[in-house]
Order: sequence, then C-alpha cells, then structure tokens
Amino acid sequence: MDNPFGLLAELTYRCPLACPYCSNPLNLADYRDELTGEEWRRVLTEARDLGVLQLHLSGGEPLLRRDLADIIATAHGLGLYTNLITSAMGLSRTRAEKLKAAGLDHVQISIQADNTALSDKIAGTPSFQRKIDAAKVVKELGWPLTLNVVLHRMNIDRIGEIIMLADDLGADRIELANTQYYGWGLTNRTALLPSRDQLARAEPVVRAHRERLAGRMEVIYIIPDYYSEYPKPCMDGWAKRQFTVTPNGDALPCPAAHTLPLPRANVRDDSLEAIWTSSRVFNEFRGTDWMPEPCRSCFRRDIDFGGCRCQAFLLTGDASRTDPVCVLSPDHEIVAKKVAAANRPRRPASPGTGEEVLVPRPHR
Ligand code: SF4
Ligand code: FES
Repeated sequence: MDNPFGLLAELTYRCPLACPYCSNPLNLADYRDELTGEEWRRVLTEARDLGVLQLHLSGGEPLLRRDLADIIATAHGLGLYTNLITSAMGLSRTRAEKLKAAGLDHVQISIQADNTALSDKIAGTPSFQRKIDAAKVVKELGWPLTLNVVLHRMNIDRIGEIIMLADDLGADRIELANTQYYGWGLTNRTALLPSRDQLARAEPVVRAHRERLAGRMEVIYIIPDYYSEYPKPCMDGWAKRQFTVTPNGDALPCPAAHTLPLPRANVRDDSLEAIWTSSRVFNEFRGTDWMPEPCRSCFRRDIDFGGCRCQAFLLTGDASRTDPVCVLSPDHEIVAKKVAAANRPRRPASPGTGEEVLVPRPHR
C-alpha cells in the first residue's frame, strides 16, 4: 500500500456561485456540520504524518471559512505545500495579504468565460470583474497563478479568447478541463455536453496557443472523457496517492465517492491512518483484484485502472463494473447514446432551452 501524497480538503460546500457543472453533492444540506479549525488542525497533522506533502484547499468556496488563514498557517507550519482553489469571490487585497502572511503557496482561480456577460451567466451571479481584479492581486503579491476553466457547450467556442485572457493576466498555467459528469454536472449533462464539431474546432486553437506560449504559460487541455476511447486513470488509482476530506469530516478516496453505497469513514470517529489503511471505503477498489472482465485481462489495466468507479456506479448502478466510457465496456452504449444526443442535427440552438434544462446548484 502506498502512502498518500495529496489531500483535497473541502472546507465548506457553501458557495456564492451557482455553476451548473458543480461536482459537489446534490444533498448539500447534509454537510452543514463543518469541521472546526481545531479538528482540521488534527486532520492536517495526521495527514502530514501519513506522508501527505500537498494540501489543496477547496469547497464550495474556501474563502467563506473565516479561519482560512489559521488553517493555512497550520499547514504551512507542518511543512505542507498549500494550494487555494477558489472562485476568488471575497479575495480582496486585505484578505490576500493575510493568506500570504499565513504562508499560502499557490492560488488557482476559476473563471467561467472570457467576458462578463457569459461568465456571470454561467456562474449565476455577477462575479467576472471581481475574479479579474483578484487575479491581478495574486500576481502583484508574487504568487504563481493558475486559472481553471470548466469547459462545456456554452463556453468551449471561446477557448482562444479564454487563453488570451489568461495570458493578459500573466497566469503561469491554465487548466481547460471539460466538465466531468458528477453531482450537478450529471444533472445538467444533456445541456453541457459539447458536440464533436465543437471539440474539433477547439483542438487546433489550443495547439496553436500552446506553441505560442511555450515557456511562458502551461496550457493543460482535457477533452470530455465521453469522447475518449479509453477512460481516464481516475485519481491515478483508487486510494493510491490522494484522498479527500469533506466539510463534515468524511474521508473519501475521491471527491465523488460519497455517491457509492459504501460505509462512511469519518475523521471524527477514526484516525486518518486507520481510515487509509483499514476502512472498507478505501480498500474496496484498491489495486486490481476487484476488477471484472474485460478489465481483468486488459492490456490497459495498470494504465487506467478500469476508469472511474464513481462514473461506473452513476451510469450502471454498480461501482465494480468497467467504466462505460471505455469502448470495451459492455455498458459503453450508455455513453454512446449521450454522445449521439449531443450531436443530433436538431439539438436546441442554445443550452437551457427545449429539453436542455439547466438546474443551477443552490448557493448554499
Ligand atoms: Fe481500461 Fe478496463 Fe477498458 Fe481495459 S477494459 S481499457 S482496463 S477500462
Ligand atoms: Fe470517484 Fe473517479 S470520481 S473514482
């Protein structure tokens, strides 16, 4: 069994935005009993003792935790590399200076598009200008800046303009990741899944900008796995190198594992070491022994680990099946039908119309 390397600390699911692709759980109300600062101190200490080196502070919106600077100072004191994953709502210069003084190492800001009208429409609230202002503060205070953009049918045609905005802001890295269909993203999948033509248009644009920006800005582009031949190596393998702690203290091998019918493990009940080594949720899909055919005898079993357990469960009702994204999966038809629907000739002209309803994630 490997030691974990990274911890995703989801400090709160409260959020000022209402993005329709949010991967947070649908039952947000079940997570209101948030870990206290003292509990996070214990979790971070145990995580460091287990071997964790990188801490990703996420949510919801982690800036809504008033004790965020204290949590960062604790992590910094433990020698962890800290990365703040934020919408930047609430990242004023004063707040940013406090986080800098606490030892925060890196900031990742999400933007929804390259312009106010579209970005605010997707975010469900006026936010674009505040994100731009915050990104400038991040650079002025000397942090490395990553911009993160979740791509989907509504913004993928703006991919060139989005990269140019990141360049103007002096971003060191941009992550252009197509929506993953969990949580609210799965609810809104019909409206969010881009067409094959959109992907074909985006690809050369990304390639050209990547060449232009080589050595200045790293451009990461991830296509929707629904259009891939084989699935992604989700989490680099179940309970292998990373784990998540949710706002109420549930420890999970990945952020979506709360959907699986497995007994919960919670840091309020057990030590992280006991959870990592012995809990059922962490051991259920560790390694390759659990694999069914076709994965069991497949040449890619040590490359993609059979894909994503959560996606397998959400699409088939059985988390131990081959990820239906895989062309070799007996359930691949489920994904193929969704792709066909996203490419039908009479698809509504814009998302949110016709049968392509968009359900916004609640703010809290
Ligand atoms: Fe990966 Fe399983 Fe598909 Fe092989 S059959 S490519 S191991 S998901
Ligand atoms: Fe849970 Fe992929 S998101 S295994």
